[in-house]
Amino acid sequence: MCSPILLLSLPPTVRDLEVPPLFRRRFILGGYRSVGQPWQHYMLSLFQMHNETLNVWSPLLAAVVVALRFMMFTLLGGGGVLGFRLQGPEGQGLSIDVSSMPLVLYMFSALTYLSSSAAAHLLQPHSEHAHYSLFFLNNVGGAIYLYCCALALYLYCADPAWTQSMLGKIFLPAAAFLSWTSCSVSCYVKVHSRWMYTFHRKLYSLTVITVISPIAHLLAICSWTSTQVMPLHLLQVVLSLLSAYFFSCSSPECFSPGSFDVLGHSCQLFHVLLSLCMVVQQEALFRDFLWSRPALPRLFGEEHLLLACASILWVTFSCSLTALALRRRVQTRLTTEEA
Ligand SMILES: *[C@@H]1O[C@H](CO)[C@@H](O)[C@H](O)[C@H]1NC(C)=O
Repeated sequence: MCSPILLLSLPPTVRDLEVPPLFRRRFILGGYRSVGQPWQHYMLSLFQMHNETLNVWSPLLAAVVVALRFMMFTLLGGGGVLGFRLQGPEGQGLSIDVSSMPLVLYMFSALTYLSSSAAAHLLQPHSEHAHYSLFFLNNVGGAIYLYCCALALYLYCADPAWTQSMLGKIFLPAAAFLSWTSCSVSCYVKVHSRWMYTFHRKLYSLTVITVISPIAHLLAICSWTSTQVMPLHLLQVVLSLLSAYFFSCSSPECFSPGSFDVLGHSCQLFHVLLSLCMVVQQEALFRDFLWSRPALPRLFGEEHLLLACASILWVTFSCSLTALALRRRVQTRLTTEEA
């Protein structure tokens, strides 16, 4: 499918003024793919250098690493590391260990987010409809990932005394609410106006900071050389904060518009840092999971664990509903504009 001839037939990238305003990004002057080409052009543009090549490749590679690493962990971890058994204690059926479920959900949400993000960046210039729909999909994926991440970090990594404190008790509901809010605000702003443009980015950063806060707390109370996993936690906090920073501002491209079009603009730095963060985070989760899992049912209670996992359904449902409603509004607007 991707013979060199086909690649050569790809139109060259264009300047910002040659794409509709919706597709332009501040301070990015060139490296855009033309809008309205057939889908295959965008698929092939995976092998072309343009303003989003890195945005596509970094989540793709991270998804492969996360999936392979998870397989290695479960298969090489002596089997049964998750406590899932095809033969239940009664001798039949599938037995699922509730305390491993957050880890599995984390892995699925990470893969969903990484792949939806890669697909969105690869394919969105196809049309305005596609641009909006894929943007919404990416946001919903992001919200689900953030909540699953909060859940896994809270259960496996956080300081047990903190999880039982007042702040610890409102952590998960707050993370769920913030994930939904930042997804909704971001979709809403996309559709309605640009007046809250920077606000939604700040809100996303606030969500990231909240999600990572149990780890920041852990680093503050433990000497971070005390266990092997501490350097990994430190690294994931640094990477998350850096990625949130680049998400919420337009540096470095604002200092020299046009210089970072294809390599090095804020959106790419965000994706690269986030992808790295997810790989490190998964590694840290594996370590903490192995020693904290046995105590989880006693610490939180099986029902509470099940409820915490089930609340992912609430996040998924509410984010999808908001995104679908806004998508419908956009579709109607676009169709009336076209008519
Ligand atoms: C890259 O170009 C596409 C159009 O090909 C545009 O939709 C997108 O906003 C641009 N992104 C950046 C970061 O410049």
